[in-house]
Amino acid sequence: MVTAVKINEERLLNTLSDLSRFTDTPGNGITRFSYGRQDAKAREYIIRRANEAGCDVFIDALQNIRIALPDNNHEGKRVISGSHIDTVRNGGWLDGIYGVCAALEILETLRESHRSFQNNYEMVIFAEEEGSNFGSTLTGSKFLTGAYDEPALDSLHDDNGKSLREVLDSLTNPPDICIYNTSDKNYSDLEWNSSDIKSMFELHIEQGPVLDHEPASLGIVESIFGIRVIEVTLKGVGNHAGATPMALRSDALCAAAECILKAESIVKGDADHSSVVTVGKLDISPNSSNVIAEKAKFTVEARDKDIDKINFLMNHIISELRSIAKERNVSCDIKELSNSAPVHLSSRLINVIEQTAKSKNLKYILMDSGAVHDAAMIAGSSDTGMIFVPSIDGRSHVPSENTNSRDLLTGAQFLLDTVLVELQ
Ligand code: HGY
Ligand code: MN
Ligand code: MN
Repeated sequence: MVTAVKINEERLLNTLSDLSRFTDTPGNGITRFSYGRQDAKAREYIIRRANEAGCDVFIDALQNIRIALPDNNHEGKRVISGSHIDTVRNGGWLDGIYGVCAALEILETLRESHRSFQNNYEMVIFAEEEGSNFGSTLTGSKFLTGAYDEPALDSLHDDNGKSLREVLDSLTNPPDICIYNTSDKNYSDLEWNSSDIKSMFELHIEQGPVLDHEPASLGIVESIFGIRVIEVTLKGVGNHAGATPMALRSDALCAAAECILKAESIVKGDADHSSVVTVGKLDISPNSSNVIAEKAKFTVEARDKDIDKINFLMNHIISELRSIAKERNVSCDIKELSNSAPVHLSSRLINVIEQTAKSKNLKYILMDSGAVHDAAMIAGSSDTGMIFVPSIDGRSHVPSENTNSRDLLTGAQFLLDTVLVELQ
């Protein structure tokens, strides 16, 4: 029987509050892209805490971080927990970083409880989960699981045209602490040795309305949706807005508008309404009120629990976009940005999590995740479990994203209780 070990609630809430300061858009949500100034500050804060706890910090060439309790007895398999610290633009203060702060709280609590079997616990911070820089979600964990290899370093580019390799090569450290691995350029063998890992748990806000509506304290995730993202570039003929007759135009922005509404009508017309399709990013050039748009670039992402459904919808959308472009006399270039398949998480861990929730008399529901998570990548090589806490009004990826403190603390304590069961 595992005797109770309690998190330090005040410390966890303080950590969350401290880290929410690291944003490029203070007063308008959290904007903290991987490898940027705020990312460096958040890393420095967390790594300092790990160093103070006497833990061992490992940073790989992609800047994924793993933090282990000292004198980690290397015979035992690891039980790992963590998430990501990067955000979308003007995002919320909890997405990703809540799971990292809870994992750090567990590390410090186990350190203070001095029990040897707990040495097999580690925390992880996955780099570039949101894809805010390069348009590809789960980039750090894709390298850790072999889904990405060295060529991805040069095929992924940010909005300034810089490749992932160039961004990594330009990283620097503060004078007194190592927060980036600037020496290891070995990108070809980043894969985790999954035989070292017993299980990985990701604690995360739900980012949807289900738990808030139920209401329930916890969601036990059974499967994580897959996602496929394309980038569409339409090129027409830029021209004078006043002197160009309507019949002589090849307007890239009007073509994009028709494409975007067509994508929406295709998914809305889908029989079982399980899929979602979103166009969230649109760049126009030259983006001037008195110039007919020459170029329109936008992303289309499709998600579902079923990979065949994702591809059926996306392939239908692609063929429709191409015919609209032809009809409107604009060129159409389509680039696959990223994809990850739907995954069913470990039934063994779903059971461990469920039994632990029952033993603690916590109200939970079994559910799926429409949001993608690094857990979806790790699940391909190690037993992986995911735990949700409610999002107030189901809002996320926006400045108003929030979860009440009681639910945040319940989730973190529950993660510790579950990790302790798994460490037995
Ligand atoms: O887009 C997602 O589902 C996640 O927040 N990266
Ligand atoms: Mn997110
Ligand atoms: Mn997230």
